[in-house]
Amino acid sequence: MSELTIAVPKGRVLRSLAALFERAGVDAACLLADDRRLIREVPDRSLRFLLLKPDDVPTYVEYGAADLGVSGRDMLLERRYELYQPLDLEIGRCRMVVAAKRGVTVPAVPRVATKYPRVTGDHFARRGIQVEIIYVQGSVELGPLVGLADLIVDLVETGATLQENDLEERELITPISSVLVANRAQYKLRHDAVRPLVERLRSAV
Ligand code: PRP
Repeated sequence: MSELTIAVPKGRVLRSLAALFERAGVDAACLLADDRRLIREVPDRSLRFLLLKPDDVPTYVEYGAADLGVSGRDMLLERRYELYQPLDLEIGRCRMVVAAKRGVTVPAVPRVATKYPRVTGDHFARRGIQVEIIYVQGSVELGPLVGLADLIVDLVETGATLQENDLEERELITPISSVLVANRAQYKLRHDAVRPLVERLRSAV
């Protein structure tokens, strides 16, 4: 049986992800090796990891370049991929919120800066509030400080970024965590290989 390919995000969650795989009985030390290899194989060659920008993980899995992947729920909500989501890994926990400059009253039709235009649009539409959405790729917290936007929709983990930029949380949109995603076809075709790993991860969660 050929090895399973798992797309994983470089960055913040990699350390907790490696620990989770270890608890599931997978020697995942290769994930933490400090080098530039984009493909990392476990010692018994039963698994290989693809190290990707977090936002690209669902794409690799959707196209079948990886059997499984680990993606933030934020991206899955925003882009609505055709993927199975067999397991919430309960790591990378944070929340998606609406925030504004501390103490500032926002106009009737506020401008909202965000990396998540679709989730943001849906959120304010549900509440019957008209907004103008401004798409940005990062450092979203800057928007209200320089007159780009009145509000932001972004992820908050510790709250340090909001606090250090004189912003405050106004509304919770949804809790976020990392989710195991699976290619629909591979999940059926490679069920004998995929299923035991998913079950071991489920126990480790
Ligand atoms: C994320 C997020 C917030 C910050 C929240 O950004 O977009 O800016 O982390 O974390 P905190 O509540 O613990 O301060 P990231 O560091 O991924 O960079 P980005 O701004 O380029 O998206």
